[in-house]
Amino acid sequence: MLLPITQYGDPILRVPCAPVEHVDLEMNTLGVNMLETMYAAEGIGLAAPQVGLSIRMVVIDIPEDEEEEMSMVTVNGEQRAMRDIMPLVFINPELEPYGKQGLCTEGCLSVRGIRSQVMRPERVRAKLTRLDGTVLEIDCGGLLARCLQHECDHLEGRLFTDRVSSAARVTLTKRLKNLLHRGQ
Ligand code: NI
Repeated sequence: MLLPITQYGDPILRVPCAPVEHVDLEMNTLGVNMLETMYAAEGIGLAAPQVGLSIRMVVIDIPEDEEEEMSMVTVNGEQRAMRDIMPLVFINPELEPYGKQGLCTEGCLSVRGIRSQVMRPERVRAKLTRLDGTVLEIDCGGLLARCLQHECDHLEGRLFTDRVSSAARVTLTKRLKNLLHRGQ
């Protein structure tokens, strides 16, 4: 089932999300629906507040051809192909970004039509709990590291537009204002 995607200006995108206490059948259905919604919108990640739920849950699916050289990822200490762990549906993530800062263009399904360069650490160590209770300890770079940081920002009520450099901010602020008016 496709869920409506919360758009920029909706206050739920600005609230830190609550931890998921227990996983029931409803959560599994939500995971399936979030993936379906993300695929339909041609995104690679979607966080629960983007479908109107203020809980710490995220789905990610990074297609293989997006970033060939980073298609390997360390999972629980072992080198694995990215496709082996996709799609990811997880709750209560713990993230530790590290390494040098890198610039990358980001967009967001909740901020339609706007893409901007964002600086973030290039690598991430992450502890992700899947809905079946298994825990993945991931060490990665590339698009997955970028996507994990972007989605986990959503869980804190942060958007990629908050992280844009001050030089790009003037243009961005104007475009965001237009987006708000369009949405009304
Ligand atoms: Ni986003």
